[in-house]
Amino acid sequence: MDLEKPCMSSIWGGLRRPSWGLILLVLTALAVSWLHVTTKTDLSTWEVTHTQIPHPPIQHQKTCSSFYLHGSVPKRKVVMSITDFGGVGDGKTSNTNAFHRAVEHLKGYGEKGGSQLNVPVGRWVTGSFNLTSNFTLYLEKGAVILGSKDPKEWPVIEPLPSYGRGRERLRGRHISLIHGNGLDDVVITGQEGRIDGQGRMWWKLWWNRTLEHTRGHLLELMNSHNILISNVTFLNSPFWTIHPVYCSNVVIKGVTILAPLNAPNTDGIDPDSSSYVCIEDCYIESGDDLVAVKSGWDQYGINLARPSSNIIIRRVSGTTPTCSGVGIGSEMSGGISNVLVEDLHVWDAAAGLRVKTDRGRGGYITNITIANMTMERVKIPIRFSSGSNDHPDEWWDPNALPVVRGIFIGNVTGVDIRQAPVLEGLEGAPFEGICMTNVQLDGIGPPATWHCESVVGDAIGVSPMPCSQLQRNGSSSWCRHS
Ligand SMILES: *[C@@H]1O[C@H](CO)[C@@H](O)[C@H](O)[C@H]1NC(C)=O
Ligand SMILES: *[C@@H]1O[C@H](CO)[C@@H](O)[C@H](O)[C@H]1NC(C)=O
Ligand SMILES: *[C@@H]1O[C@H](CO)[C@@H](O)[C@H](O)[C@H]1NC(C)=O
Ligand SMILES: *[C@@H]1O[C@H](CO)[C@@H](O)[C@H](O)[C@H]1NC(C)=O
Ligand SMILES: *[C@@H]1O[C@H](CO)[C@@H](O)[C@H](O)[C@H]1NC(C)=O
Ligand SMILES: *[C@@H]1O[C@H](CO)[C@@H](O)[C@H](O)[C@H]1NC(C)=O
Ligand SMILES: *[C@@H]1O[C@H](CO)[C@@H](O)[C@H](O)[C@H]1NC(C)=O
Ligand SMILES: *[C@@H]1O[C@H](CO)[C@@H](O)[C@H](O)[C@H]1NC(C)=O
Repeated sequence: MDLEKPCMSSIWGGLRRPSWGLILLVLTALAVSWLHVTTKTDLSTWEVTHTQIPHPPIQHQKTCSSFYLHGSVPKRKVVMSITDFGGVGDGKTSNTNAFHRAVEHLKGYGEKGGSQLNVPVGRWVTGSFNLTSNFTLYLEKGAVILGSKDPKEWPVIEPLPSYGRGRERLRGRHISLIHGNGLDDVVITGQEGRIDGQGRMWWKLWWNRTLEHTRGHLLELMNSHNILISNVTFLNSPFWTIHPVYCSNVVIKGVTILAPLNAPNTDGIDPDSSSYVCIEDCYIESGDDLVAVKSGWDQYGINLARPSSNIIIRRVSGTTPTCSGVGIGSEMSGGISNVLVEDLHVWDAAAGLRVKTDRGRGGYITNITIANMTMERVKIPIRFSSGSNDHPDEWWDPNALPVVRGIFIGNVTGVDIRQAPVLEGLEGAPFEGICMTNVQLDGIGPPATWHCESVVGDAIGVSPMPCSQLQRNGSSSWCRHS
């Protein structure tokens, strides 16, 4: 059984029985690269703790506020503070009960104009708590919610039906720090408050291979609709940071997500089996994909058949040294379609765009548009791959081949790019309708040859010269009409 590995460097997770010598060597290498990273990004400890957090300016016209019921942050009838429920923001006292009491109480206003829970300046340690409907969690200036370092405060819940098991370990998974299931109209916002998962303890469990159950997300919303997450910073998630699954009408806007660049599987935002999701004006730096669109894993995802569709990812920027700016997959068994990625800016990353799938996944990836991506110092700017050989159990179906068709990539510029694109489709299920227009990748030094297998498409105005599989010279209708 394979464990989820960080996308490129499988230093710890991939080794079955590392020798101590090797561990020492790797530790030294990590320490050295960490020092390097520290000087570059000004992170001074293992967890991100800096007080000056960059925030993306919001000054653009295009917006997807229409994806959320009320457009912007709504006024709720009742507003209370966590201190009304006995909360203490001293950075030590547990506020788990205070949050539980608050939500239990405010739930009563769901049909009476809704409610808002304010978290004032302070450091509020808590275990996992659930949100409720017609509800706003509001982090005032200087408010920091800190995830408990006690794993028991992150109880184990059922695996997702589209995964059949925990993503990293069999059976159940730790619940997210902030959680919601079956909710309608939920807002998380404020004046640049922070939600800090204090994930280091969990990364260590993963590194030293003593993790018992799949790590929890920092924020997970399941089966929920009309969600707005804005003007909040998410730090140090144990696992994927924001995970909307089986949701619709989700807006994530003006959010900053930070985790150490070596923190395993700390994806920024993972829309999963969800539709009408808009991610706008976000800054993300982490140890995994900035944004990864998913829809379930092999036979479990195929059976549930809950696609991700109508997803917009706009004006997202950031860095991830081992992973990609935007990833599609690799779990995509419920299907992924109609994804628009605009104005993505990625630097010092392993990949700009990555499409990942595999035999056994089934499902489809169709109608994906990437427009105006800019990249600096990226290893492989555009990468399609299959064959990660990462399956939930032995009952996956080798005949379940994914359909990948219609990937349109236009107006891409890259400088200091290390390698030409690598496009590897699946033998017996080629990726079709790949169209690239106006793609300029600089700094690739001869030979700047593309690597293409089992892909078919067109390229117009692409440099360096693409592989022959993409040289149908605009003859396919897909490229002409896009
Ligand atoms: C939320 O508010 C709307 C509008 O007031 C109401 O129709 C709905 O029943 C409320 N939902 C819940 C779960 O309280
Ligand atoms: C939160 O909701 C989940 C179901 O999604 C449930 O398993 C868990 O017990 C709830 N936690 C609390 C504290 O109510
Ligand atoms: C693994 O890491 C956890 C969390 O830091 C620690 O409690 C545990 O003792 C470590 N186990 C081993 C075998 O190093
Ligand atoms: C986010 O903060 C900015 C700047 O304070 C404010 O203009 C904007 O209305 C806020 N947006 C949302 C959706 O909370
Ligand atoms: C393809 O996706 C875009 C959004 O990215 C959408 O506007 C368009 O209607 C989709 N095309 C089809 C044929 O579904
Ligand atoms: C392209 O994206 C860059 C950065 O992501 C942005 O600054 C620029 O305005 C965009 N250009 C267009 C034409 O949208
Ligand atoms: C690429 O840029 C040109 C010129 O700015 C613009 O007309 C065209 O619509 C863009 N294409 C895409 C796919 O964004
Ligand atoms: C497409 O155009 C290129 C350059 O003009 C040429 O070398 C190549 O043979 C053409 N491919 C096809 C399939 O016509």
